[in-house]
This record gives sequence, structure tokens and C-alpha cells, in this order.
Amino acid sequence: MPKIIFIHPDGRSETEIEAGKTLLDAAQKCSAPMEYACGGNGFCTTCKCRVKNGRSNLSLPNEREENMGIEGESGDRLGCQAKVFGDAEVELVE
Ligand code: FES
Repeated sequence: MPKIIFIHPDGRSETEIEAGKTLLDAAQKCSAPMEYACGGNGFCTTCKCRVKNGRSNLSLPNEREENMGIEGESGDRLGCQAKVFGDAEVELVE
């Protein structure tokens, strides 16, 4: 299973999660502090995060992300939309 590492202001959390789940699913599984004000529907950007390693192991940015100005080139993604297919390291910024 893909291993996801979250770096955040409180330290570091990591988990393994089934392929096809989202970064938000992974964050919730290991209690990493990723916000999700819109309930994971791609309408708020509170789950925005920066992928430091493993960008190519995630789904490509989808229409909801593009509508919110997320194009993925900087590594920024919406955690509720980015699906995991391999290992990744993700930074959570406040
Ligand atoms: S939780 Fe709102 S955009 Fe991801």
C-alpha cells in the first residue's frame, strides 16, 4: 500500500492507505491536521497542501482543483481531490 508522510507544524505523521484514496483520507487516518471545511468536495481550499516528493504518484489535478486555481506545477494540491497511487511526502501549511 502507498505510504504517505505528512510534515506539519506539530511534527510528522505517516500512514499507509489503499491506492485510490485521497490525501485527505490519509491525513485523517493518521490524525494529521488537514482541514476540510467543505467536507472534501473541492470548494474551499482549506485542505490545500504541498507535495514535496512523489507528485507523479498522485492523480493529475482535476477540474475542481483547476477551478480553485490549483494546477499542480508548484506541488500544491487539494488534499480532498488528489488520489494516491504510490508513496508521497506532503507538507501541510497553515
Ligand atoms: S476540503 Fe474543501 S476543497 Fe478540499
